[in-house]
Amino acid sequence: MRLDKFISSQRTDLSRNDVKALVKKGLVTVDGQTVKKSNVHIDENTARVTVNGEEIAYRQFLYLMLNKPQGVVCSTKEGACPTVIDIIPEEYRRPGLFPAGRLDKDTEGFVLLTDDGQLAHRMLSPVSHVPKRYFVRLEKPCEPRYKDAFENGMTIDGGEKCLPAEIVFLDNDNECEVVLHEGKFHQIKRMFEALDNRVIYLKRTMIGSLPLDDTLPLGEVKEIEDIAALC
Ligand code: URA
Repeated sequence: MRLDKFISSQRTDLSRNDVKALVKKGLVTVDGQTVKKSNVHIDENTARVTVNGEEIAYRQFLYLMLNKPQGVVCSTKEGACPTVIDIIPEEYRRPGLFPAGRLDKDTEGFVLLTDDGQLAHRMLSPVSHVPKRYFVRLEKPCEPRYKDAFENGMTIDGGEKCLPAEIVFLDNDNECEVVLHEGKFHQIKRMFEALDNRVIYLKRTMIGSLPLDDTLPLGEVKEIEDIAALC
């Protein structure tokens, strides 16, 4: 891979022009030697590259935490609405990046964007049961009977049987947290409809054991370091 491409793919704060300028200043080394040109080719799997004295660890795949706002669709295909790919900064867009798991257009919160197909497959496989936590606001107050209904595995419209799920009631009677171990279409909305209630706001707050960073503003992304927490 070209050195400038390698560095800017690993350090998304540096454009290829930035890399060129750093090389000119003698601030980039490959295997201990200061390089003179930013277009030299390196073996990205073995080369030891430093920028400003800091070593760049090679990461083949990108893992992004997006705090998805409402009105954005979890798709890679262009349509009438902006997609999760449209709203991320240019420097993160790369071939093969896609949302690993979908949220509805009107649901907010944690979406994993990655180009690591294997990890996504592991996470999304129906046998993996990676937990996903949601904050839910309902039209009507929660009722104690919801607990058993969730824990026993509900049957929702169309006769679909859900896996056991957890529900935690919050201080506000109309709010709760739900943890699912699967991802059926509109699942939480359909579960509450089956209980004669209606979801008026939904946000995903955790995938696996990785919580959504609560300092991450809606519509923004950050790189995930702790991949192991995802599944
Ligand atoms: N359940 C829903 O109903 N919608 C989502 O977006 C996620 C879970």
